[in-house]
Amino acid sequence: MKKSINTRLKHSSKDQLNRSANPPVVRASTILFDSMQELAAHEKKIINRKRITHYNYGRYGSQTTIELENIIKDLEEAYHVFLTPTGFGAVSLCLMALCRPGDEVLVSDNVYNPTRELSSNLFPELNIKAIFYDPNDINDLKKKISNKTKLIFVENPGSITFEFQDLNEIIKIAKKRKIYTALDNTWGTPLYLKPIPLGFDLSISSATKYFSGHSDAMGGTLAVNKNVYKKIKFYNRFLGTRLSADEAYLIIRGIRTLDTRLKAHYENTLKVIKFLKTQKKIKEILYPHKPGSKNFKMWKKYYSGGTGLLSILIKSKNKASVIKFVNNLELFGIGYSWGGFESLAIYQDIKKSRDFYKLSNDEHLVRLHIGLEDPNDLINDLKNSLKFIK
Ligand SMILES: Cc1ncc(COP(=O)(O)O)c(C=O)c1O
Repeated sequence: MKKSINTRLKHSSKDQLNRSANPPVVRASTILFDSMQELAAHEKKIINRKRITHYNYGRYGSQTTIELENIIKDLEEAYHVFLTPTGFGAVSLCLMALCRPGDEVLVSDNVYNPTRELSSNLFPELNIKAIFYDPNDINDLKKKISNKTKLIFVENPGSITFEFQDLNEIIKIAKKRKIYTALDNTWGTPLYLKPIPLGFDLSISSATKYFSGHSDAMGGTLAVNKNVYKKIKFYNRFLGTRLSADEAYLIIRGIRTLDTRLKAHYENTLKVIKFLKTQKKIKEILYPHKPGSKNFKMWKKYYSGGTGLLSILIKSKNKASVIKFVNNLELFGIGYSWGGFESLAIYQDIKKSRDFYKLSNDEHLVRLHIGLEDPNDLINDLKNSLKFIK
């Protein structure tokens, strides 16, 4: 029987041996073989193309991590998936595996800070040049391509300022010039956007966010097509990192309900946005919610759903009062990350960090993650706290 991905997420990775609905947590360094011949045969056949099944040492996986790889491979419709200990590990694996001294990398100017810092601070030490392009202007991207461009790295949408780019255009430009393309797809998840079938070479997700969904695990996934598989595998082998079986188990447990949770995040977000739109202190809501806007059109064109992360632009001459608004929220925790069950808020000081996005001194950006609480409670919380803004 043909089953949809939402059904497959529920029924994958059963433990046939123990008749359990979930896979065992296999904590292993040494994997035992019956003979040297069997060990050697295993080494030759790490990958079976339909399902990833082979591992011969704990650093390369255990039954639990291999189950997760197979779930993500299915979800991403990818050639292969590499698991990393954090989402940022997947970003750095992608960048470091593909770029070499003398190369240039085009990075969308709306990437989140660690990706920006790796590009701006580490790359120069390796004689790799990162060039930031305006995510609102495809011509800026075209202008900045040279015969040294190795990779175009896109975060879509930018997870602080929420620009949605024309992804097909980027792929078209890159393919013509034989440039690799990578997409940080953490916001939309491969449930709502599948970068690999669309034409990207690499698709990144922080599994810490919506995949695990419970703010208690960290991990990353780097899905790849055949074009880059060998390069990523080569570099990954020398990095020596791995995802632990315990984290993999928590991510498998979370991902079973990805579809249900994302729908609830989205419904709550729309209700909160409806309220935010009525608030005079809020100048702009950064989320694809305005049907006529470019961001909305691009979101509709590529995504089959929306999630719970957005930003609000607040107009105030008094920065301290905006901070007071954040501090006085009762249900929105103050902290990094997002994608868990709970609501979060954070003041983002981006005045100096990006060229394409200029805020004046009386504009302030607060990022909100809309969790799975009762949306009326979230709205009341925001209403009470917005009073602090002067
Ligand atoms: C867009 C985006 N990509 C990647 C990451 C990295 O994920 P992790 O925190 O799991 O390292 C984050 C984390 O905030 C993120 O927001």
